[in-house]
Amino acid sequence: MSRTKLIAGNWKMNTNFSEAQILCSALKKTIRPSATVEVAVCPPFTHLSIVNTLLNGTQIMLGAQNIHQDKKGAFTGEVSAQMLKDTGVEYVIIGHSERREHFGETNTIVKEKALRCLELGMKPIVCVGEVLSERKSGNYLNIVEEQVREGLSREMDPKKLVVAYEPVWAIGTGETASPEQANEVHGHIRSILTEYFGSESAQEIRIIYGGSMKPSNADELLAQPEVDGGLIGGASLNAEDFCAIVTAGEKQ
Ligand code: PGA
Repeated sequence: MSRTKLIAGNWKMNTNFSEAQILCSALKKTIRPSATVEVAVCPPFTHLSIVNTLLNGTQIMLGAQNIHQDKKGAFTGEVSAQMLKDTGVEYVIIGHSERREHFGETNTIVKEKALRCLELGMKPIVCVGEVLSERKSGNYLNIVEEQVREGLSREMDPKKLVVAYEPVWAIGTGETASPEQANEVHGHIRSILTEYFGSESAQEIRIIYGGSMKPSNADELLAQPEVDGGLIGGASLNAEDFCAIVTAGEKQ
């Protein structure tokens, strides 16, 4: 089963307007339409509109880094699914470990956010991953399994779902899961997806890897049968590096 890979850049709380413009114009020059790799960038909320305009006419898709779980209302400072949809967003990162750690997002909240996103036809990138102590204790598969089981529900449309495995100990640390470590967890995630959505649908769901993916390790990570792309933090802020990862995806 060949799944279209997804390479998504998570800019986090980085870039000012002019840096975003420079990054977009470099991506626009280099990234060509591809039948095997989809590319998305997830800038901060304030840049969504301008990035959408700048990437107009390319196949690079727009993603957001978060969403609120309620449809609307008195939630000062929050952004709803409809607002993102109206801004041209196609992908939404949900339950990133930084949101779980610093903003108290639980699996239940992750599920609600993913449902809001799906209701409007956007695609959630649901992030899961263990912290270092859980990796060391050997309990990591159970931790990730719980996040997947509680963060997803069987009523979700599998065609629109993306899961990102991001071991927390590899995010922004320069340390990467080995290709075998990534593949093992991805395979485990797929077995839960199979139980939830049936084998045929589960085979179509992209499970992407995040955690210090860079040009020097992208080839071997993306060559793994269960690794269907990458969620790229630091390296997505450098156009050359990000484009090299996209090229690595196209080679697989
Ligand atoms: P990193 O971040 O590539 O800088 O490790 C990945 C992520 O947090 O999505």
